Amino acid sequence: LGRVHEHHEQIGSTNDRALEWLGAGAPDGALVTADAQTAGRGRLGRPWSSPPGRDIYASVVLRPGAPSAGFGALALAVGVGLREGLVAVFGAELSSLALKWPNDLLLGGRKLAGILCESRWRGREVELVVGFGVNVHRTREEFEPSLRARATSLALHLPEADRRGRATILAAVLHELEGTLERFFAGGFPAIRARYEPHCLVIGRAIEVEQPDGRRVYARAEGLAEDGALLARPDDGGPSFRVQSADVWLR
Ligand code: BTN
Repeated sequence: LGRVHEHHEQIGSTNDRALEWLGAGAPDGALVTADAQTAGRGRLGRPWSSPPGRDIYASVVLRPGAPSAGFGALALAVGVGLREGLVAVFGAELSSLALKWPNDLLLGGRKLAGILCESRWRGREVELVVGFGVNVHRTREEFEPSLRARATSLALHLPEADRRGRATILAAVLHELEGTLERFFAGGFPAIRARYEPHCLVIGRAIEVEQPDGRRVYARAEGLAEDGALLARPDDGGPSFRVQSADVWLR
């Protein structure tokens, strides 16, 4: 990943640029990074705070061909790669880095990184853009007040001597991501399950799920299906149900 690389001092959104480049024939593994985003996007249409020079904003083009298995668990695979890349750089200091289904990385209960996967079909082949933002250097004051209680950065967690530059971190993440995605595209979620589950914050916990129709359901997260969907048992005794793309909160 990243053998072809486009870097921008400032851009609307690296995902938007990667999607545009995808349409213009970007090769598999093409990488877009930026020092700042003016229209960084999160899941479910939310904005992603992206001030200049502090964090990693990156998007990768993937052309896995015609999928043999489903790729619904792509964000889970990206989470595994991202986590292992960060642990490779920082070692034990980050061993508590957790994966919150489906696509957040949490440190000390606060969000450190987010993942945004977008797909398009070209005939029977799928084309993907995988974007991720990692909070690297941000101080508490540099987070918008509304994020301060919920977000964190590597700088806020690591002793000064252990801090690393964004380029070093990104290189390690891309390296881990490449191997992880190769295994995922060949074998689907089962191929990475053993590296996801031990770090998954949600399994076994009481959760609140927002259904696509806006309804909130209290439930217990029982585990993950073969395709990476979350299996939940409602508190009201109703039948277990699958959660595919809803928002999930720990209670
Ligand atoms: C989320 O947690 O909701 C996903 C956040 C994804 C943010 C990254 S930053 C780089 C890439 N470009 C974007 O506009 N979004 C993703």
